[in-house]
Amino acid sequence: MLLRDTKDGTSREQVLLASNSYLDLANVPELKQAMANAVLEWGTGSGGARLTTGYMANVGTISALCGKGDYVFSDELNHASIIDGIRLSRSKCLVYKHNDMADLERAILEAKDAVAKSGAEFRGMVVTDAVFSMDGDLANLPELLRIAHGHDCLLMIDEAHATGVIGKTGRGLAEHYGCEHADVTVGTLSKAVAAEGGLVVVWKKNPVFSKPAAQFLKSLKEELEKSQNN
Ligand SMILES: Cc1ncc(COP(=O)(O)O)c(C=O)c1O
Repeated sequence: MLLRDTKDGTSREQVLLASNSYLDLANVPELKQAMANAVLEWGTGSGGARLTTGYMANVGTISALCGKGDYVFSDELNHASIIDGIRLSRSKCLVYKHNDMADLERAILEAKDAVAKSGAEFRGMVVTDAVFSMDGDLANLPELLRIAHGHDCLLMIDEAHATGVIGKTGRGLAEHYGCEHADVTVGTLSKAVAAEGGLVVVWKKNPVFSKPAAQFLKSLKEELEKSQNN
C-alpha cells in the first residue's frame, strides 16, 4: 500500500499486515465508484443500527436458534461474538478443546447421556470459527459434519476470515475441503469484502433447525401482536 506522511506529504510503499481488506477490494476503482454513487443517492448511513456486523450476526443467530435446555458445543478458541451469542441464548455451553474432534464427540456424548437421564429431548448445535481469528488455523469441516450430523446436532460455522480467501475461488471451507456446507454459515462483510454488514446463510431445511426457528418466529409474531394491541 501507499503510505502518505501527513507532516511532509511524502509517500512511500509499505507492506500492511494489519488490514481486514484481505484482497484490497477497498481500492478497486469500480467498487469505489459504486460506493460513491450509492452515498450520493442514499446518504452516508441507514440512520440507525441495522444488525450490520458479523458480531451481531453471530449473537442474533445463536440466540434465535438455541434456547434454555439446548446444548451448544463450542471450540475453546471461538470468537467473542460466538461466546456472547451462547450466553444470550441461555443454552448450556460445553467447550471442547481447540480443533479436537475426539473431545467434541466426548462432550456431545456427555450431554446426550445427561439429557437421556432427565427424560428430555436432546437438541444440540456445534459452533466453530472456520478460520480461527487468533491462530489462523482451519476448522476440520468434514469431521465436524460427520460428528455433528451423526449425533443429530446442527452445525454452524463462522466464515468471517474464510470468505474471499479460503477455497480455490474464495467460497470458504466447503470449497477448500470439497465437502458439504455446514447447516448454518455466518459471515461478515468487514474482512475480505472490505465493506460492512453481517450475513447468515441456511443451506438446507433441516428438521433440527426448523423446530427452534419456528418457535422463534411464533414468539416474535406473538410479541408483535401484543405490542400492536397495547
Ligand atoms: C471469527 C470472527 N467472527 C466474527 C467477527 C465479527 O465481525 P465484525 O467485525 O464484522 O463484527 C470477527 C471479527 O474480528 C471474527 O474474527
